[in-house]
Amino acid sequence: MPAETILLLAGTAEGRALAERISEERPDSRLVTALAGRTLFPKRPAGEVRVGGFGGAEGLARFLLAEGVTRLVDATHPFAAGIARNAAQAASGTGVPRLKLLRPAWTPGARDRWTPVSCLGAARDALPEGARPFLALGRQHLAPFRHRSDLRPVLRMVDPPEEPLPFLADLVLGLPSADPVEEIALFRRFGVTHLVCRNSGGDASSAKLVAARRLGLPVVIVARPVSPPGPTVSELQEVLDWLS
Ligand SMILES: NC(=O)c1ccc[n+]([C@@H]2O[C@H](COP(=O)([O-])OP(=O)(O)OC[C@H]3O[C@@H](n4cnc5c(N)ncnc54)[C@H](OP(=O)(O)O)[C@@H]3O)[C@@H](O)[C@H]2O)c1
Repeated sequence: MPAETILLLAGTAEGRALAERISEERPDSRLVTALAGRTLFPKRPAGEVRVGGFGGAEGLARFLLAEGVTRLVDATHPFAAGIARNAAQAASGTGVPRLKLLRPAWTPGARDRWTPVSCLGAARDALPEGARPFLALGRQHLAPFRHRSDLRPVLRMVDPPEEPLPFLADLVLGLPSADPVEEIALFRRFGVTHLVCRNSGGDASSAKLVAARRLGLPVVIVARPVSPPGPTVSELQEVLDWLS
């Protein structure tokens, strides 16, 4: 009989790192890491892995009870609002303690020229006529920009798109660089006038913001959805402390 059964809602780099640490540091506990299954070949986290949705808050609550889950850790992406809401509802409905791990949002510095907006449609509307925006957005977030035929967007994708893009754009293949100098070179090469991104936070893709700052480019940044109320931490170690 394990000391605890921990359900870790993941799908982020932090989620995978947390699975590793929990497996190492809590060998007496059973860890189940849940992934939505959106990525074709996700790097498989340590321990037991469950792939696919639960069927809403009710389905998740049923899973918590059926598997005897004693702790629920939500380490999903800051923009994954649905699963965060479901986790909060399922935890309060079953009495299973829940902790949210949320990486800190990016904040503007004195030299940043940010326009914060609440959604992608507002980001589109904030761009001036004829702008050349770098849309640092996943392909599933591009649709709102298709009505702006005056824009000349630049996109970056890891893999070539399987379906035609919703609008004409210059496409760069590859991962975001961690080096602002490379991002500056890219923005200059394409004559980018604006950066459009979501406030995901974290280090993996913050170099583009540093590049925009150094070039004096305006940034249209989509604010995060509001997280459900409840205990929230920003560091892996805080989750491990909560579990001990
Ligand atoms: N949103 C982003 O920009 C982003 C970026 C990087 C990674 N991710 C990761 O990708 C996953 C999906 O993101 P999303 O924006 O589509 O989320 P979402 O809109 O909040 O979730 C949609 C549905 O996907 C299922 N789901 C989401 N995360 C799950 C998980 N960890 N384990 C099992 N089921 C999960 C749930 O289905 P049921 O209702 O059937 O349970 C949920 O209702 C998340 O795990 C997130 O951490 C998202």
